Amino acid sequence: MPENNQTTASPDIDLIKTLPTKRIKHPRVVEVMTELNTLIYPDSQDSILLVCGPTGAGKTTLARHMVDTALERARPQMESDSGVIPAVFVEAPSSGENDFSWRLFYQRILMQLGDNLNAPKVVYGVDAQTGQMLRRRPSNGNTLAALRSAVGEGLRERQVQFLIVDEAAHMIRQTRGRHRLEIQLDTLKSLANECGTQMVLVGSYDLYQLVALSGQLARRIHVLHFDRYREDRPEDVRAFAGCVRTFENALPNLWGGQLSQYTKGLHANTLGCVGTLSSVLVRAAKFAEASGAWSADSLNRALLTEAQRKRILEEILDGETAIGPSFTRIMPDVERAAAKSKKS
Ligand SMILES: Nc1ncnc2c1ncn2[C@@H]1O[C@H](COP(=O)(O)OP(=O)(O)O)[C@@H](O)[C@H]1O
Ligand SMILES: [Mg+2]
Repeated sequence: MPENNQTTASPDIDLIKTLPTKRIKHPRVVEVMTELNTLIYPDSQDSILLVCGPTGAGKTTLARHMVDTALERARPQMESDSGVIPAVFVEAPSSGENDFSWRLFYQRILMQLGDNLNAPKVVYGVDAQTGQMLRRRPSNGNTLAALRSAVGEGLRERQVQFLIVDEAAHMIRQTRGRHRLEIQLDTLKSLANECGTQMVLVGSYDLYQLVALSGQLARRIHVLHFDRYREDRPEDVRAFAGCVRTFENALPNLWGGQLSQYTKGLHANTLGCVGTLSSVLVRAAKFAEASGAWSADSLNRALLTEAQRKRILEEILDGETAIGPSFTRIMPDVERAAAKSKKS
């Protein structure tokens, strides 16, 4: 993509180090956050929300930022009532060959809740005959029921308003059959309803495709699409260009005003995913650092290879087709229609 090999001032090493931590606020992030903030409130009917979008769109970054913001907002309350944790972020454990490990998942949540995992847990139960709640009884803290009960108790006591589960496809990928999938999500849903904690599942399109397997689930879960910036939408092209400019201005000495001229090529190479753009630029900065000065060559070397790009594009087109116009809330366009007709 970059053609001229002109070099600019030598890179500012200290500033380059800050690049990976620099988070930019771009229109898509604001859009998805606003929608999430609108749907997250006490007694909301939407106990499970799904955020999905392409890999590299910036979903994990957004999810962590949501939690940080919630904690920041609740700081006065947290200081006066140290037990309160308004938001929790966990990554669903990867299950490898086996079924999803609820045990690991619960343990991760308990860790975030500051629970002492070695302390004995209690199990609540209902007497089958009288229908009355049984008193707390000490139990082995390692049983799944005890862990689940401790999570429920923790979420309630900490008044957790929302729990973000990143890489949520791990929860259901290994699950065989539609029925099992519904059970997994029912487990989450009942936890949510019991504790007044909304569950926000975050993942790439495979998460949506799994949920869409069941019409029953698709109906009960609200889906938010963290869409990439598309090259065929003028407002997206402008927004993406704005992102490149923001990154350029973050390190003016490094890029020397030379980055924006590559906007179109960067858009095509990163498929309009801001996280991928960020990764490419961090790599380019590293190459520049290694060679002592920035050149178009450092950018060229940092790009996704054509094979990588093609693979990601295929995934994106499949995902966008699956998620469909009712969720993207836009009219089908040329790219999607072309992808569809190619498949059929
Ligand atoms: N708004 C942003 N500003 C700057 N960097 C970002 C932004 N969003 C994502 N990134 C960076 O891009 C990379 C990929 O983002 P990530 O959130 O992991 O994407 P996803 O979870 O959608 O695959 C991370 O290194 C992250 O720091
Ligand atoms: Mg992620």
